[in-house]
Amino acid sequence: MLHKDVFEELMSEEELNKTVSEIAERINNDYRSRPLVVVGILKGSIMFLADLYRKLDLDECQLDFMAASSYGSSVSSSGSVNITKDVDCNVRERDVLIVEDILDTGNTLSIIKEHLLSKGASSVRICTLFDKPSRRKKPVKADYTGRTIEDLFIVGYGLDYSERYRNLPYVGVLRSEIYS
Ligand code: IMP
Ligand code: MG
Repeated sequence: MLHKDVFEELMSEEELNKTVSEIAERINNDYRSRPLVVVGILKGSIMFLADLYRKLDLDECQLDFMAASSYGSSVSSSGSVNITKDVDCNVRERDVLIVEDILDTGNTLSIIKEHLLSKGASSVRICTLFDKPSRRKKPVKADYTGRTIEDLFIVGYGLDYSERYRNLPYVGVLRSEIYS
């Protein structure tokens, strides 16, 4: 049974599991013998990160977190993004992989990627479960993407609307009357 505010299911638990496994396989191939710092972006990425991280078969993959806030609305970020939590570890001369729930306008990830590069990371790649390229305002590209979607507002599996629906085990399209 879907949540009453969800219009339709976009990805079931099974589909999510399969998609996360496919992404993990690509990351495992790309970083096989390179130490990696995995940086999850709070809070939306946590379910995806927890599932992805357990599928990483790498000798060394440190886990860290960042958080950012923007003055946008509940459905979209704005150009002024503030980093509210920085990584704890030193990323200088390390390969970093950012793990994010969804890449939308690109405002958040462009700031975060620049920040990690300015701290001296030797490489910064982006792994996002969902991508909405039609909404892009900054020239940010993901290196690993689970699924490219239309301009829909989705919730569940960590993704929220006003801090709700993160607990849904599937990803669904939120009914437009909830946010309009
Ligand atoms: P950006 O800075 O516009 O790329 O937005 C990234 C952030 O906006 C994500 O980390 C999400 O928190 C939020 N966001 C964008 N689209 C959606 C969506 O469809 N559902 C839930 N959150 C979204
Ligand atoms: Mg959010």
